Amino acid sequence: MMPQSLLMRLLLLAAAASAATAAGDGCSTGCNLALGSYNIEPNQNLSYISSLLGIDDYRELPYNNPWFGNLDYIQAGQRLTVSFRCQCLALPTSPFSTYLAGSFPYRVSLGETYSSIAAQFNNLTTAAWLQATNRYPSSNIPDGGIMNVTINCSCGYPGVPPEYKVFLTYPLRDGETFDSVEEKYSFPVQSEMDSSIVYIPLTCEDSCCCRYSAK
Ligand SMILES: *[C@@H]1O[C@H](CO)[C@@H](O)[C@H](O)[C@H]1NC(C)=O
Ligand SMILES: *[C@@H]1O[C@H](CO)[C@@H](O)[C@H](O)[C@H]1NC(C)=O
Ligand SMILES: *[C@@H]1O[C@H](CO)[C@@H](O)[C@H](O)[C@H]1NC(C)=O
Ligand SMILES: *[C@@H]1O[C@H](CO)[C@@H](O)[C@H](O)[C@H]1NC(C)=O
Repeated sequence: MMPQSLLMRLLLLAAAASAATAAGDGCSTGCNLALGSYNIEPNQNLSYISSLLGIDDYRELPYNNPWFGNLDYIQAGQRLTVSFRCQCLALPTSPFSTYLAGSFPYRVSLGETYSSIAAQFNNLTTAAWLQATNRYPSSNIPDGGIMNVTINCSCGYPGVPPEYKVFLTYPLRDGETFDSVEEKYSFPVQSEMDSSIVYIPLTCEDSCCCRYSAK
């Protein structure tokens, strides 16, 4: 048998490790508004990006992106901000493992895989995370099936001043680091350990969309 104190230490370590995996690990409730930053790649257009992210009409996008000029001439490298509801969801294989995320329904076409689907979301999610959050075995994703594309989010974390009300799920780009993002703040910033996602805290002024609630 394991000595009591060692067992205790292992349990404490496990608790600390899961606290450090951040973003809603063990949530009990979500929040109405989170933002996601979609980094536009060459040859992507707004009607395609809107269909991925559940936006009915891309002319709604300027509410979150007032700096966008002509919506018909988007450029690779621009970042598009989309809003969504940040829900407390549970893993299909383990109903007590909860996490905070937006869920975007995606109709699967013949031959698509978790990797090919994740790739379209430009680092807002990963193939491994899609696989963990969907029931389909990776070798048997049904043509025409509806996958839940899971994009992690944050509703806040300890140490953030109260005027920061909205959190932007922000995949780091090449050349950006967690430290270069965190440098802008005088409090700790949260990130995902196993992906390149950082949660950027925003005030209502800099997010411009506290008054728009997500659908
Ligand atoms: C937008 O992109 C999608 C996917 O790449 C493509 O199928 C569609 O033809 C494009 N639409 C326009 C208007 O360019
Ligand atoms: C996704 O992340 C990889 C690795 O960090 C990077 O090389 C790539 O440019 C990113 N893609 C986008 C669209 O930001
Ligand atoms: C989403 O969050 C969970 C934990 O809450 C983490 O294990 C997973 O790697 C994250 N996925 C991404 C793509 O950030
Ligand atoms: C997607 O999410 C819904 C609602 O939580 C669930 O009923 C469904 O089984 C999920 N789909 C997959 C493929 O896991």
